[in-house]
Order: sequence, then structure tokens, then C-alpha cells
Amino acid sequence: MAALNPKQDVICSSDKLVDGGSGVRFTVMRAGQPCPAFAVRFAGRAYAYLNRCAHKLTELDWEAGQFFDAEARYLVCATHGALYQPETGLCVAGPCRGARLTALAVEEVQGRVRLTGANGIHLAQRSADEVKS
Ligand code: FES
Repeated sequence: MAALNPKQDVICSSDKLVDGGSGVRFTVMRAGQPCPAFAVRFAGRAYAYLNRCAHKLTELDWEAGQFFDAEARYLVCATHGALYQPETGLCVAGPCRGARLTALAVEEVQGRVRLTGANGIHLAQRSADEVKS
């Protein structure tokens, strides 16, 4: 078995994700297509989802990297205000109530947040911050 490359599928360093704060945008390859995605931290854990609202498939962030509502309790879609639980991706209010964001499996290894590669989903493009570092 090949050794794990700690840089493989790295989205960002762990300290880039502040609890309830700005998220990190990135792109994954899914079924051969590039798809926008994002990672956030909530209640100490990192979560990642496709950046695609369950309602009209638009990107969620109201400003690049801003996904949380004012109370940092829910992820909010800027287009029509759907609210999603950060820990499950379940929509709890708005036009797509009961639907879910598409979750991406992530783990934190050696101070970095990375995709696990589950379901064959890998990073297509590293975040601008990570490219600089
Ligand atoms: S596109 Fe997100 S709530 Fe309508």
C-alpha cells in the first residue's frame, strides 16, 4: 500500500477554518466535472459541502467565503435565504426545506483539512491561500 501523502487533497490548513467564521472555497472533480465546494468549521469540526444550494443550485455564499448567518448557527444561501445545519447539510428553513447540501468527506491530518477521497471525489484546485503558502 502506498504511503499517505499528507498534501494530497489538502483544502487548507486547519487554522484557516475558524469556528463559525469564514469558509474556504475550493473546487472538486466530481463525475469528471469541476464543482465549486467549500469548507467551514462548526462546533470544533471541519465540514465540507458542494457549494450548490439544494433549491436552485446556485452558490451559497453572500460574499466570497461567507456562509454563516449572523448568529453563526446556520449556513445560509444568499439567493433566497435557505438555512442549512452546518453539521448535516440539512435545510431547516427556506424554499428547499428538508433537502440537503451534498456533503464531502473531510478529515484533519497533521494540521490540515483534506478530502478523504470518498466516493472518488478529489480536489481539482487548491484554494488561493494554500497556493501562496
Ligand atoms: S437558490 Fe438557495 S434558497 Fe433559492
